[in-house]
Amino acid sequence: MKHPCKITTVVAITGLVTAACAVSGPTPARDGRRTPPVHAAAHHADGIATVSPTWIDGLRVIRDSGNDRSCPWSIAYPQVPGADAFTAALRRMVEGRRADFLGQACDQPAWELNLDFAFLAASGDVIGVRYTEWWLGGAGDGRSTTTRWYDTETGKVLPASALVEPGSMGKFAAGLGTALARKQGFDPQAFREAMADDASRARYLDDLAFTARGDLVVTFDESVVGVAPAGQLRAVLPAATVRPLLSDFGRRVQRQVVEPERRLRLNGTVSPSPTLPPASEESSDCRRVKCVALTFDDGPGPSTEVLLAHLARYHARATFFVVGQNAVMSPDVVRQTAEAGHEIGNHSWSHRDLTRLTADQVHDDLRRTDEAIRKASGVTPTIVRPPYGAVNAVVRARTPHPLVMWSVDTLDWKYRDAARVTRAALSAAKPGAIILFHDIHPTTVAAIPRVLRTLSARGYHFVTVTQALGGGEIPRTRTVFSGVSPAL
Ligand code: NI
Repeated sequence: MKHPCKITTVVAITGLVTAACAVSGPTPARDGRRTPPVHAAAHHADGIATVSPTWIDGLRVIRDSGNDRSCPWSIAYPQVPGADAFTAALRRMVEGRRADFLGQACDQPAWELNLDFAFLAASGDVIGVRYTEWWLGGAGDGRSTTTRWYDTETGKVLPASALVEPGSMGKFAAGLGTALARKQGFDPQAFREAMADDASRARYLDDLAFTARGDLVVTFDESVVGVAPAGQLRAVLPAATVRPLLSDFGRRVQRQVVEPERRLRLNGTVSPSPTLPPASEESSDCRRVKCVALTFDDGPGPSTEVLLAHLARYHARATFFVVGQNAVMSPDVVRQTAEAGHEIGNHSWSHRDLTRLTADQVHDDLRRTDEAIRKASGVTPTIVRPPYGAVNAVVRARTPHPLVMWSVDTLDWKYRDAARVTRAALSAAKPGAIILFHDIHPTTVAAIPRVLRTLSARGYHFVTVTQALGGGEIPRTRTVFSGVSPAL
């Protein structure tokens, strides 16, 4: 994943393009991904085949985000059981990007870091992931992409360039140059330099993926082999042409994309999901008893099942504002959450700041998330919590459900300290409160038993947001900050 700032430095060396790295205003990035994932090989909007993550037993998605709106970031990586090296490599990559972002771009008001990924293959002996980083500003198509591959036979993580046989690289580059020559904005000199040696090729040939027919799609980020306004440049090499130039691994990937095996061969152990007792069926009337709504955002995460067990022990209901992408990766956890009687709300597809999207993008993002949650759990959300609590007139107009905020922010994402999270929740709890937590943090989940024990002893009932707000339908146009003062 090459950030436009870094690319600029490299391109400037060629002396051809010296695009500035300034942010040219809060132009929302164009969302090229409209196709929802389906339970089979699917076409990506740009022709690249993706597969449903439900093919991977025991898959978890690890998501982390900084919820400070002045510096919004959200990262995610898959945890594939039995592919620890792959998980570790993806984690290093996304955490490295976050470190760059926090170090360089945080004081620039228009920047947002959002890393989204899809599986390109997850069958037989290969796994492939394609990351998209959205960014703002400039006239290009506002995204940077990269692919990473894993060979389950050797346990090795491979860069995109490993799909090509080293001895055929010259021929491959020549074919690629011919295909790119027809593209507007192509810069042959920059291309020659990017293909000059192994190190450079490994760096710039970093997004190779196949279509469902086996054609190879090679994508270059903005400014790498073309002038900046052209955005990403993409070449498609036909399956038959490219096949002789692929490495053994590349051919295995091509085979799995075109004709995937029914299973992924991994040595890892898959932990079965624990069966949870159902939450109490007794409904609480918040006009007569003290109610509090615990809300958990950004999941499901690796500790969500533990949290469900804590809640079940206290017959507590809660509300989970789920990220659509996570629901696709961990449908079983979302289903268990719904079956245990908890409410599931929509927390956007990949935790982007919705105020930076166009009206159509807001609508598509939330609709796609509703659909992912419905597919996983059978229940369609009726409430939305916008990432970062960020709303504007466009978000209000295009959100299909009421926007639900919170009255108590435990700042659990910031402090990652169970004792501190517990204190924050207990000191601010009062009847009708909506308390904000993030179940992606193990420290938060560790705080919950004490929160439940103490508030139970004080006579509180733990209810869903909808129950806290009276159980009826919340008007769509209302933004709810808390059950205490719904007029806010
Ligand atoms: Ni969030």
